[in-house]
Amino acid sequence: MARSQPTFTCLDCGAVHGKWAGRCDACGAWNSIAEEAPLSAGPAKKSLGSQRGRQVSLSTLNSNEPPPPRSATGLEEVDRVLGGGLVAASAILVGGDPGIGKSTLLLQVAASIAKRGQTCLYVSGEEASAQIRMRAARLGLAEAPVQLAAETNLRDILTTLDAVAPDLAIIDSIQTMWADNVEAAPGSVSQVRAAAHELVTFAKRRGIAVILVGHVTKEGQIAGPRVVEHMVDTVLYFEGERGHQFRILRAVKNRFGPADEIGVFEMTGAGLAEVANPSALFLSDRGRSSPGSAVFAGIEGTRPVLTEIQALVTPSPLGTPRRTVVGLDGGRLSTILAVLEARCGIPFAGLDVFLNVAGGMRVSEPAADLAVAAALLSAREDVALPPDMVIFGEISLSGALRPVSQTENRLKEARKLGFSQAVAPEKSKADGGTGMQVRRMPDLTTFVGEMFAAG
Ligand code: TYD
Ligand code: MG
Repeated sequence: MARSQPTFTCLDCGAVHGKWAGRCDACGAWNSIAEEAPLSAGPAKKSLGSQRGRQVSLSTLNSNEPPPPRSATGLEEVDRVLGGGLVAASAILVGGDPGIGKSTLLLQVAASIAKRGQTCLYVSGEEASAQIRMRAARLGLAEAPVQLAAETNLRDILTTLDAVAPDLAIIDSIQTMWADNVEAAPGSVSQVRAAAHELVTFAKRRGIAVILVGHVTKEGQIAGPRVVEHMVDTVLYFEGERGHQFRILRAVKNRFGPADEIGVFEMTGAGLAEVANPSALFLSDRGRSSPGSAVFAGIEGTRPVLTEIQALVTPSPLGTPRRTVVGLDGGRLSTILAVLEARCGIPFAGLDVFLNVAGGMRVSEPAADLAVAAALLSAREDVALPPDMVIFGEISLSGALRPVSQTENRLKEARKLGFSQAVAPEKSKADGGTGMQVRRMPDLTTFVGEMFAAG
């Protein structure tokens, strides 16, 4: 059935609404809803079922087809996140804040692929070729045989791709592309969707891998990458704090690999450097053990990563004390504070709480709960934790410590970095002779009693 009513789409999250509103119900963003022209304004066409189509050929699940061919990019951290390399005929979206380093990363990927003898076309809608060449020179990649184009007209780009048939095409960015068959401004929901759809179907048909760059937008002027997430095979987000030099490439969707893998980079004067051992990096600027600091032994994808969790607890001058969190979920902090108060009798009322994951890292594992509680208690009691101790465990609402996965990997990583003791949930699996002294505890009350007995 043809739609004749305009629809209203949130530029942040892509949710579709029946009418305009100041705030998107789905993601809570203000001023992000824009009107989208109806898909088909012409006279109602006959329904698809009224005319017979072609019968499609069917196959079974156990075919002997080989797995899709992959080609490594040569950047190990990128390959890890992709699940082993680029898959031909696949579409990848790389989202991130403007200025975080997406173009830099992708130029490095393009150069690396081109140096391996594959054809790579880098299409920029944002920068002139001269600008890209300047960046390449700065990165020491000027000699790489990457094919450059500065263009925004999608029809011309598709024609070029058809003629050149590269192994990889990079489109920087999808928000600057302009399809002349859609009557809307570049960056609008309709344009971004149409351009992404054209590029993805083209990639599938011609067996080309495409990488689309998408800016995450705060102002709601242009459509964010969420609008095209569902069309692509792989969604990667490039994140990091502006003030920090660490950048994390995180897979949030991957049809060809694990979806929780991260790649870690450091932004240097000569581009992004791969960080093979992120734990050492995240802990590198840790001072002597001070109150309010706890080291969490976490797992990111297939790799253990140690991070420092820092807390500051001070008397609050405000009626409603502050709860400020960076790098962790604010809701999780509230839950842990509530459990500490209700199950252990340690109130945080009247106290401002600031919580931070050092180095600009973001932690989403529930296993971080116990390390968060430890940092909070250490700050509140002004007692430093042993400097050679790592902590992990999920806290349930009853105050019990629940076991977490991959205990052995966490302990091994800690051992490797010079830690010698750990606090873990009682029921966690055996540590397999990692050489760590592991203190197993059944619940939060035991933990408080053993670690902060004097407090
Ligand atoms: P860029 O890749 O242009 O970001 P995006 O494409 O995500 O908008 O990165 C821009 C930032 O990276 C800019 O602030 C400068 C910094 N940068 C470096 O620190 N070192 C470098 O070698 C390069 C090329 C950029
Ligand atoms: Mg850019």
